[in-house]
Amino acid sequence: MRRIRFMRRSCGRRKVIYYIILIAVAALIAFAMYTYRENSCDDRESRNIITSLCQLYSQGKVAGNLCEDMCTASILTYKKCTNYRGGKHILISDWKGKTVILKTKEAYIDKYFPIGYEGIDGETNIPSIVEFTDMINTSMTSVLGLNMLKQDIIGRLWQMKFDDFIGDKDKLHSAMTSIWSLAQQDEYIMMQYFQNSSHIPEIYGTCGHIYAMEYAPPGDLLDPRLLNNFLDGSQWKLRAKIALDILQLLGAMNNELSHPLHLCDIKGENFGFTETGLIKAIDVDMAFPDPKMKTEMLNPHTKCSKHSDCDWFDCKGWCNIEQSKCTDKRINNNLQAVCEKIFSTRYENVFNGLLQSPPESVAVQLNTAIKKCANPTGETSPGLRFEAPQETFNEIKDLLLKSLSS
Ligand SMILES: Nc1ncnc2c1ncn2[C@@H]1O[C@H](COP(=O)(O)OP(=O)(O)OP(=O)(O)O)[C@@H](O)[C@H]1O
Ligand SMILES: *[C@@H]1O[C@H](CO)[C@@H](O)[C@H](O)[C@H]1NC(C)=O
Ligand SMILES: *[C@@H]1O[C@H](CO)[C@@H](O)[C@H](O)[C@H]1NC(C)=O
Repeated sequence: MRRIRFMRRSCGRRKVIYYIILIAVAALIAFAMYTYRENSCDDRESRNIITSLCQLYSQGKVAGNLCEDMCTASILTYKKCTNYRGGKHILISDWKGKTVILKTKEAYIDKYFPIGYEGIDGETNIPSIVEFTDMINTSMTSVLGLNMLKQDIIGRLWQMKFDDFIGDKDKLHSAMTSIWSLAQQDEYIMMQYFQNSSHIPEIYGTCGHIYAMEYAPPGDLLDPRLLNNFLDGSQWKLRAKIALDILQLLGAMNNELSHPLHLCDIKGENFGFTETGLIKAIDVDMAFPDPKMKTEMLNPHTKCSKHSDCDWFDCKGWCNIEQSKCTDKRINNNLQAVCEKIFSTRYENVFNGLLQSPPESVAVQLNTAIKKCANPTGETSPGLRFEAPQETFNEIKDLLLKSLSS
């Protein structure tokens, strides 16, 4: 009797284990398929994006300084796509023997808000030049948070001469359609506006809704792929040089622009290097000019009960606890975020920090400096972080230089 019960029980248990394994395997397969689909890009769709744009170009419906090269001369040609994670469409291309990136938020131009609409008479109505300039002004002002003073606002956004399109309604429509689709892409506005920065990728131009950008990939050290690059103690000189470049970029973001830029999404893969080794900020979706930062900090969640309610990703906010309202103040800075998210080794960092295992000559000092930089006031609350001071910047820089000279 007891034996039978025992047998039955063991049989049931085996069944349960069997089902658990079955479910686990099914989940794993589903997860793998999902990850693969999310991370793979479609070569055919990428080609199709260009083909359909060029079709519109041949019908005179879009314009841009690169349309000729892309569609007629075929000296701007698609090579391969990158893994876009449901984000922007990014096509690695060749332009006169040089690698460039073609980018667009939406694959097809009709996914953007149209500029013209059809009237009851079947005619397409387009805005007047004044109305159009106003629309572009509004987009740029809202993305940049800066007052666009009396300046050539369309010239700032588009590399062709807009005036050349005035006079012929179809031509004007094609220009407006193209500019308006670009004006709906925050990254394009940011990068085009800050073209005079030495650390923003060059924008070579546009065709329709697509823009061509300087190629600056992050590389294996800043964007480790699974299994290929668990940073170990090696390659110190290279890692130290990359860290020095990042520091230089941070300095420039504070000093060389009309307004300091707040980088609120700090991770290695958002920085890249040009062919000549210059570091660039390749993802500026979460970069805000100082005046914009203030409105951004207040914007979506003005109500708060703790400081982290006021965070904007890596830009740490401050809650006025008595009034339960966020303030417009960012309490940390770019340096603190870089030290915490890129330089230091934390348990969240699967791939370890960029500056782990420094050479012995600087190890103790550097590790201390980075730790202080990542959490300058030694806060125990995990989300609360304050500004890392300029001295820390200098100290880390000097130690890195020292480690390279020995
Ligand atoms: N100028 C560039 N040069 C080289 N590679 C680039 C460039 N711009 C983007 N990439 C590659 O494409 C990836 C995605 O680009 P980006 O971050 O701009 O798009 P995204 O849609 O915002 O993606 P995510 O949501 O992952 O941040 C980057 O991580 C980088 O690997
Ligand atoms: C853009 O709009 C702002 C405010 O609405 C205005 O002060 C500025 O002059 C406009 N700029 C241009 C170039 O029209
Ligand atoms: C870029 O232009 C702005 C004005 O628009 C100016 O204040 C700034 O100094 C310029 N920066 C560089 C690096 O030329």
